[in-house]
Amino acid sequence: MKIFIDSADIDEIRQAYAWGIADGVTTNPSLMKKAVDARHKKAHRLDLQTYITEILKVAKGTPVSLEVTETTADGMIRQGLALYKLFNPIARNIVIKIPINPAFKDTDTTHFDGLRAIKALADKKIPVNVTLVFTPEQALLAAKAGATYVSPFAGRMDDYIRKRNRITFEKTDYFPWQGMWKGKKPYDDNGVVSGVDLVWKCSQILKHYGFKTKVLAASLRNIRQVREAALHHADAATLPFSVIQNMLKHTKTYEGMAKFTKDIVPAYVRMTEGGTHDPSSKPAAKESRVVKGKKAVVKLARDLKTKRSVKKRKPKGKGWFEIKDVEK
Ligand code: E4P
Repeated sequence: MKIFIDSADIDEIRQAYAWGIADGVTTNPSLMKKAVDARHKKAHRLDLQTYITEILKVAKGTPVSLEVTETTADGMIRQGLALYKLFNPIARNIVIKIPINPAFKDTDTTHFDGLRAIKALADKKIPVNVTLVFTPEQALLAAKAGATYVSPFAGRMDDYIRKRNRITFEKTDYFPWQGMWKGKKPYDDNGVVSGVDLVWKCSQILKHYGFKTKVLAASLRNIRQVREAALHHADAATLPFSVIQNMLKHTKTYEGMAKFTKDIVPAYVRMTEGGTHDPSSKPAAKESRVVKGKKAVVKLARDLKTKRSVKKRKPKGKGWFEIKDVEK
């Protein structure tokens, strides 16, 4: 499963690419606003075009979704073309994000404008990510119109099912992919019992009929949802930075690191330093063993990409160090 970062924050994007785990970026108007507001708060002047250019360069040839803000077919096509023309030459990685249905309510007349825009851009070989997908049927129509990606919104589907059934929850709370049941009946939205179930149903239909359209699980708020999206064959998942960070954490991993680090044989570390090892050389003085041990711990902590400090632990363990979490 590919991992996209769901963010318009250049620092987060840069970090995710530096870790080597990002296969793309998705933005939306709310994420763009968050990034712009954050910079204004820090009194940074922000030239949005330069800022987006920077994101595209960091993403180096992997897809970056930029969303249209117009709500009619003509407006979305015009804006999609403009965004593509402006930004695609930079790193050849622009995907235009189009809502499956830009209507605000049932009585609006723009229900099919999303499909018209998808088709018009796809006909020009512009990749389209179809957003705000809440039914497998929407995904099927988007694929038929030529979408490169469909983005089922898993987390918002879970929110919707819970709210309608007066189940209290926090934004990042886990909701089981099998749904929640009342007696013999699951809570559902027209047969969809959870966000991951929505992802699964979209994926089953598109794969069964051989569409090239990829299912990009979106609106994922916790790591179990990520795991379940992967188990249910999402082609890709777009994840907030915090969820990516949480995917790496486990108490037993920390414990294991602390124990392994405590047990390091100094000669083992020395072998790997300086490139040459002289077996006849005398053991290093206690002080330099301590420094090497500390260096090793710092490096291991850095490799773990967690914010940790290294604290000296006194005599018991011969001057070795323990890792202490400073941020959960
Ligand atoms: C991604 O393309 C979506 O815009 C995003 O995942 C929405 O996530 P949210 O429901 O947590 O806002």
